[in-house]
Amino acid sequence: MTEDFSPLERERLMQSAREAMRQAYAPYSHFKVGAALLTAMGEIFRGCNVENASYGLTNCAERTAVFSAVAERGPALKIRAIAIVNDQNVACSPCGACRQVIYEFGPEATIIYPSASGWKETPIRELLPEGFRLQ
Ligand code: THU
Repeated sequence: MTEDFSPLERERLMQSAREAMRQAYAPYSHFKVGAALLTAMGEIFRGCNVENASYGLTNCAERTAVFSAVAERGPALKIRAIAIVNDQNVACSPCGACRQVIYEFGPEATIIYPSASGWKETPIRELLPEGFRLQ
């Protein structure tokens, strides 16, 4: 399958994700994560992880990016790709909750993330087979 984004868009996504990572609020895990998504309109939206003293309330970088995009551009959001980076350069694929949230707005989206064997570009459908849809 051909990529739905250009090498330049990929580089812009990676750079945006790195910038977002610097805004992370991660005083508990000390693991800073940044995410940047590319929309069907060619815009980029970013997010970082935001932790909480009540640990379970933590919001991952990926979901922050998706929610920011919806807040800025509305419910018709279409995600083409999303890149994820972390400050420890370790493997970090999106958690299950984030996969489902990405799938909602980008069932054909490509996920760019660091795996144990280097950078990977994987369709969300592969990371989340049979994602949930209402109806
Ligand atoms: N985290 C993300 O933001 N995205 C991921 O893909 C994996 C985990 C965050 C949540 C928490 O703030 C920290 O990483 C450690 O789990």
